[in-house]
Amino acid sequence: MKLFIDTADLKEIREIASWGIVEGATTNPTLLSKQEGHPHDILREICEIVKGPVSAEVVSQDHEGMVREARELAKIHEHIVIKIPFGIEGLKAVKQLSGEGIKTNVTLVFSPSQALLAARAGANYISPFVGRLDDISNDGMEIVAQIVEIFNNYPDIETEVIVASIRHPMHVVEAALLGAPIATIPPKVFRQMVKHPLTDIGIERFLKDWEKVKDRMK
Ligand code: E4P
Repeated sequence: MKLFIDTADLKEIREIASWGIVEGATTNPTLLSKQEGHPHDILREICEIVKGPVSAEVVSQDHEGMVREARELAKIHEHIVIKIPFGIEGLKAVKQLSGEGIKTNVTLVFSPSQALLAARAGANYISPFVGRLDDISNDGMEIVAQIVEIFNNYPDIETEVIVASIRHPMHVVEAALLGAPIATIPPKVFRQMVKHPLTDIGIERFLKDWEKVKDRMK
């Protein structure tokens, strides 16, 4: 499973990309609204750092507006993928953009039927939101399981699943166990994934024991 970073915070992206494990990034209007500066400049910078697909979302409600916005966003950098909110207008926009060779990520997907429609419209990626489903007492990961199974049933579907709205490391592990191709992970969860108390204790113990050997090294 590929790991994308789910933020528009350049400092965080630079730091976590330096670990050597980030292969793409996802943003949304909320994430970009939290940062200073022109959103297009931020997106360009993210593309330069991650050197992989970077999702940038349109805010138009009609498909003509979505396509117009998508064409502008796509000019920012070759890595830009256009995030299109799920809906009938979104499906029309995806169809049009896929014909133009502009990559799309259909976002706000909450059911397997929505995922199937987006795939058939020609989306390169779809983003089911596990955390937001869990928040309303639905099993977000069950929806991901169904989508992955459906896409695997039809090898002509090339759409990749990006597991989104991840809240904790177990969401990442469960997504990987299901064989989801990509998870997009907030910086906080990346840091939680690093931590294990036994690793910290182990390092402390090794260093302490090595103190006894140090004199013999001279
Ligand atoms: C990424 O594509 C989504 O926009 C993001 O994961 C949503 O996360 P949230 O549900 O925590 O806002």
